[in-house]
Formats: sequence, structure tokens, C-alpha cells
Amino acid sequence: MKDLCFLLIIHDSVSIPGLNLAVFRDEKGEVHALDAYCPHMGANFAAGGRVIDDGIECPFHAWRFRGEDGKCTHIPYCQKIPEIAKVKSWPILEINGWIYLWHHAEGIDPTWLPPELEDIANGTWTYRGRTEHLVNSHIEEIPQNGADVVHLAHVHGPLLGAGVDLRYMWSKLWGFGHHEWQAEWEPQSAPNEHIGVMRLGHSIQCFGNLFSIIGMNVTARQIGPGIVYMEFTSSFCKGVYIQSLTPVEPLLQKLVHNVYVHWTIPTFIGKFFLWGEAVQVERDIMIWNNKRYESKPLLVKSSEDSLTARHKRWFSQFYSKNSKRFTFQRDNLDW
Ligand code: FES
Ligand SMILES: [Fe+2]
Repeated sequence: MKDLCFLLIIHDSVSIPGLNLAVFRDEKGEVHALDAYCPHMGANFAAGGRVIDDGIECPFHAWRFRGEDGKCTHIPYCQKIPEIAKVKSWPILEINGWIYLWHHAEGIDPTWLPPELEDIANGTWTYRGRTEHLVNSHIEEIPQNGADVVHLAHVHGPLLGAGVDLRYMWSKLWGFGHHEWQAEWEPQSAPNEHIGVMRLGHSIQCFGNLFSIIGMNVTARQIGPGIVYMEFTSSFCKGVYIQSLTPVEPLLQKLVHNVYVHWTIPTFIGKFFLWGEAVQVERDIMIWNNKRYESKPLLVKSSEDSLTARHKRWFSQFYSKNSKRFTFQRDNLDW
């Protein structure tokens, strides 16, 4: 389903479809990702392996493997180390407080990198928390939301206090206002064709449109199929949500948001931003969890639906010949 991606790594043991990895920081502080299964007798480095110097020691018979290239460097009971005693080492990038791994269905080297955010690197914006969700959906479903400007009023219009499931939690109490959004989405041109940008204007309108509060502008950069930087500027706060989307199983995605705000902003405001984002994304998740994936949606002639069509064309660059296809589940009923 997906061929080109940076993947979020948050555990020492990482599984995505077709990959099991052991991720560790060596004694010099460098991060490495190795295929998790030992070539000797198949033990899992990520379950009990110990970091030693610049590598990892297998928990079963204590063979050691170097993080940088996956080569076996030590067998406790044998002097001669076979040339083939090695595991695959994956390209890693540590940036903005995240660890990313490059994976391509055709095995090609990275063709682009997520950019560093200067305000995080120099400590102007500081980390204030994260949300994690598992979503039952196709890999393309969640990124596609970035160009779906029509759903904003319907799904994200009611005030946060109305909650997630608007059928049950909407109450007149929260009917005095609504979120209003103006949105546009555009793919970037070469050499940044792997980036799509959504610009969002947001305000809360009260009592009809009598007055508005909390104006905010958001620029969301979709960087490849799995990363989004959502930089926001409001009258009292600047910061960014960094979103990461990782396939866990063919139709199960892990969605993570970290929030960073200016270091002078009190933590409770940072947490408020985190909570607000969680409520809004959980409204989407309720839709995603229950919908089916439409590879050819019924789009009408309108500037709004044409954005979804453009997004599908943009996203198609992330599939290649050996990408796993949705049909393999339909064919063998392996859900
Ligand atoms: S299985 Fe890893 S050293 Fe034997
Ligand atoms: Fe949404």
C-alpha cells in the first residue's frame, strides 16, 4: 500500500507490515535500526538484547552486531566470524526530536528528507505532549483529509466542548458558537513535489457572526505520505503539531501528534492545544474507523472536490511497482 515513507519509531521493538526492527541508541548516543532477528538461530534483539559499545548483543548466545552496518563483530565461542553473519541496517534520521526511518518498496536510497524546524532545534519551541491513536483505515485515508476542505465545517465546525461523537454529545450549551475555517491545498513543484501544503484560517464565531474570538492561521506541510508539520500562529501562541503516520498492519495505522509551543507559554495552554487537536482528530477517526476506502470516489464538478482529486494524483507518487496493493486482501479475504 505504501512504498516511500519516513516512519516514526518510538519503541525499541518496531513492527510494520513485513518488517521487524530492533531500534537502539548505542553508547555514543547514535541511533540505529537493525532487522530484529538474529541470523544465528533467530532470536529477537529487541526482546532482551543489550547495547554494548556501538552495537547490540543477542539475548540468546551473545553474538554482537554493529549498529552502523549490521555486521557481526563478536562470537563468544568462535574466533572466525563468517562473512554472511550480518543483518540489514536501516537509514535513520534523528530530527526535531523524532527518529525517522526510510523505507522504499524498491529498496532505493532516500530521495528527500524532512526539514529541520529551527524553532525546535534552538529551543524556542518546546515539547508539551503527544497523542497516539490506532486507526482502522487505508494508508491514504488520513493524508487525504488534508485536502478535504468540505468536511471542515461539518466535522470540525462544532465547538470542542461538543465532544467527539456529535450525535450524542452535541448540546445546546455549545451552540452559541462554531469553528469557522477557510482552507486551500496545493502540491509543491520540483524539487519539493513530495510536499503538499494546506493553508487554514480559523476563528471561533459567536452568536451567529456577531463577533469572533481566537483567530489562528495554520500552515500544514504534508511531507511525503507519513509526516505533517502543522505550524500555527494565534494572537497569543505560536507552535507546531508534528504528525506521524505509520502502518502497523495493512488496514491499521498508528497516528501520533506531538505539540511544541513557545517556551514562554504556560504548560496548561500547550496541553489545551493538545486536547483541542485530539478532539478534532477523534471526530475524523470516528469516520475513518467506519468508512471503506474508495480508490475512485464519486466526486462532483466543484473546486472543493477537485482538490481531493488533485490530492489523489499527488499521493500516487508514493506508490511504486512493488507496493503492496489493497487487492491482495480482497483476493484472499485476509483482513
Ligand atoms: S540466536 Fe542470536 S546469538 Fe544465537
Ligand atoms: Fe479532519
